[in-house]
Amino acid sequence: MHDILPEDQRYFQKIYNVCETLINFYGFKRIDTPILEDAALYEKGTGLTTDIVQKQMFTLRTRGGDYLTLRPEFTPAIIRAYLEHGMQALPQPMKLYSTGPVFRYEHPQVGRYRQFHQFNLEVIGDGDPVIDAQIIQIFYNILTELKFKKLIIEVNSIGDSQCRPYYKKLLVNYFRSKDSALCADCRRRMKENPLRALDCKEEKCQREVRQAPQIIDHLCEECHRHFKGVLEFLDEIELPYRLNPYLVRGLDYYTKTVFEIFEDTEEGRKMGSLVAGGRYDALVKLIGGEDTKAVGGAMGIERVIALIKDKGVSVQKFIGHPPIFLAQLGNIAKRKSLKLLEDFRGVKIQTAESLGRDSLKAQLNMADKLGVKYTLLLGQKEALEGTIIIRNMETGQQETVKLEKVVREMQKRIKK
Ligand code: HAM
Repeated sequence: MHDILPEDQRYFQKIYNVCETLINFYGFKRIDTPILEDAALYEKGTGLTTDIVQKQMFTLRTRGGDYLTLRPEFTPAIIRAYLEHGMQALPQPMKLYSTGPVFRYEHPQVGRYRQFHQFNLEVIGDGDPVIDAQIIQIFYNILTELKFKKLIIEVNSIGDSQCRPYYKKLLVNYFRSKDSALCADCRRRMKENPLRALDCKEEKCQREVRQAPQIIDHLCEECHRHFKGVLEFLDEIELPYRLNPYLVRGLDYYTKTVFEIFEDTEEGRKMGSLVAGGRYDALVKLIGGEDTKAVGGAMGIERVIALIKDKGVSVQKFIGHPPIFLAQLGNIAKRKSLKLLEDFRGVKIQTAESLGRDSLKAQLNMADKLGVKYTLLLGQKEALEGTIIIRNMETGQQETVKLEKVVREMQKRIKK
């Protein structure tokens, strides 16, 4: 678990800003659920056979003897809240988003932390394949807005209770003869959740998986139609996707569509999925509600930041440069600067400063580092005369204007 220092906060802020601006457009509403929930909610929702429940939950016992779990993901808690607050009675679908920390007991390594942050979307109460495609599109748009260029979306369908049991049997039969060639985890998975063997990272298991029957060839009519629909919508919006017949996802609740989004570079593949999700048409009922179809996904913020940093993008470049730096020299100038800053705040022009510094050289160095377009210079002489110098940092040109006119003047220049 990590501290998030002031420098990194700015990456988080910028990413949340981009996410929130985008999902406001798509009509999502924010929901916050407690970080602690009954352990049983995740055991049931996330699923007893998942790595998350078997190995990764931080569970504590309260004085009253209850078992509470630090949320390892958002989805079951959101469905609990959806049911507890009678949201099924509201116009459907409910489009909900959440952000915040989630906790998993992992072996810490690149892209895997024990406390990390997700940006999570759920659309509850709609089974149309267009929604699956739209969820993928929204996450893709967020990453594109964050300047990710080489993205690849992997999709698959893992069927539903109609077709998956038969496919599982086929798979177990296939692997039965290969038992000794599988890793210990996959041998266990054969009993509990044979599909997970398909995305096992062990080389020896992958070798066997390549010959295994593929679920795509064994979907029931309904799942087949749904998946075809999703792919047609993805084609329509021209998203770069590829079918991955071995993508099964590590959570028990998925039905039909599953997807992951990666950066298609060496670092990106090492990092793992930036976004992952899928449809979960049986979870609401499992948690105690009526039959309600739903789909969603989550983006790992730390992984996104790690890849942005990997490209050598500094915080300054990422969040953008403030357009103005206000430099001052002498006591009167300092006083006037304090007032002038408020005038810029009033017209919403971000203006950097270092009022506590007296050396002009140090202030100009800072302006340089920030990469501002204009530096305003208010020296002793200017302060007495009621003027100020505007220096264009790109051309080096300087111009003196009246102090009371500088805000209007800068508004004009920045607009241009
Ligand atoms: P997930 O695949 O477990 O799905 O996690 C989603 C994303 O969280 C991953 O793609 C990754 O970016 C990030 N992530 C996962 N584990 C870690 C970790 N240990 N350290 C850093 N980042 C990590 C879910 O959580 C589902 N609830 C998504 C969903 C919502 N499905 C439907 N609705």
